[in-house]
Amino acid sequence: MQIDKFKVEEWFNKYETDAVYDLADTCVESLSIDELLEITGNSEKYLKEIFNQKLNYGAIHGSVRLKSAIAGMYENQNSDNITITHGAIGANHLVYLTLIEPGDKVISIVPTYQQHYSIPKSFGADVQMLFLKEKNNWLPDLCELKKATGNDTKLICLNNPNNPTGSVIPDNMLKEIADIAQKSNAYLLCDEVYRGLNHDGNPFSISVADIYDKGISTGSMSKVFSLAGLRLGWVVADKVIIDKINSQREYNTISVGILDDYFASLAIENKEKIIKRNLAKINTGKDILIKWAKSEPLVDVIIPNGGTTAFVKYKKPISSKELCKKLQHDTGVMILPGETLELDGYLRIGYGNNFEQLKKALNIFSDWLKNQ
Ligand SMILES: Cc1ncc(COP(=O)(O)O)c(C=O)c1O
Repeated sequence: MQIDKFKVEEWFNKYETDAVYDLADTCVESLSIDELLEITGNSEKYLKEIFNQKLNYGAIHGSVRLKSAIAGMYENQNSDNITITHGAIGANHLVYLTLIEPGDKVISIVPTYQQHYSIPKSFGADVQMLFLKEKNNWLPDLCELKKATGNDTKLICLNNPNNPTGSVIPDNMLKEIADIAQKSNAYLLCDEVYRGLNHDGNPFSISVADIYDKGISTGSMSKVFSLAGLRLGWVVADKVIIDKINSQREYNTISVGILDDYFASLAIENKEKIIKRNLAKINTGKDILIKWAKSEPLVDVIIPNGGTTAFVKYKKPISSKELCKKLQHDTGVMILPGETLELDGYLRIGYGNNFEQLKKALNIFSDWLKNQ
């Protein structure tokens, strides 16, 4: 089966190991096992449980404990509406594998994670990409979406909060999007891997799974919980959809690791503490980024209000790939080119990590930019 190269992942494979300053990362500084157990306030008890754990397959679709904890992050869901996957990447893949057939019409709101257009395309779907625009604060254009959606639309997909722009779709707009999907009886898949990281107010936006019976939410431990190493994600949807997904899943997952399931349960049971820690880091990093962007005349940025990344416009006549290649070669600063996300002229900067390095790297970038 033919599939397009995954541009972001290829860029990481090529450049990340040599980066001196990594501003391409999308995770808030990861937690160690020790830090996670400390957050629970009961390290000794849990360590004992971990060491006594038999390493069998565990609960095939995820433990009831884990699924109940996940259900607690939604309004109207329970364990029957959830299946556990290999990260959000596994969750998204399973959704497309289950629902998309050759000739299906899919609308993908971009920029987004490349899975959301390249996988349905590889399955023979007719994929229409609708671009978010800076002039709309990187929010979807609902007139455009209405026009594009018809009775032949099988699935609409979006990513909220959005990677790379950091925009958060307001709840009432999300409801309007669900209405548009409903009118065409289309599935609505929302990659909610950053849901829980809204910078102000309630960290959780509403989920599409809670507002539409054909709404499908995917999420994971990687961003909101700083536990990407667990490789654990989920799909939340109506039971009929979850049953169909599980039929596919039997062929490629069996179960996720029993320890991953255990650590994920502990983390979600302590979500308030972890999210508080992560939002404090995100807001520190965001302040540094915004101060820099305001003082740097060669860039512009719409201030992100969710997630861990910003999409920065630069004012130099050079492609984003060339810029990033040359910048890293000359200075060791790694930034992700917008071209890998289908939008040239922009750069994705992650700001949830290592603030001294972030400050230093942004200053190095400014000096370099002036000399180009
Ligand atoms: C929008 C989005 N979806 C999915 C993923 C994959 O997440 P996971 O690590 O849970 O597989 C990422 C990772 O960067 C992402 O940014």
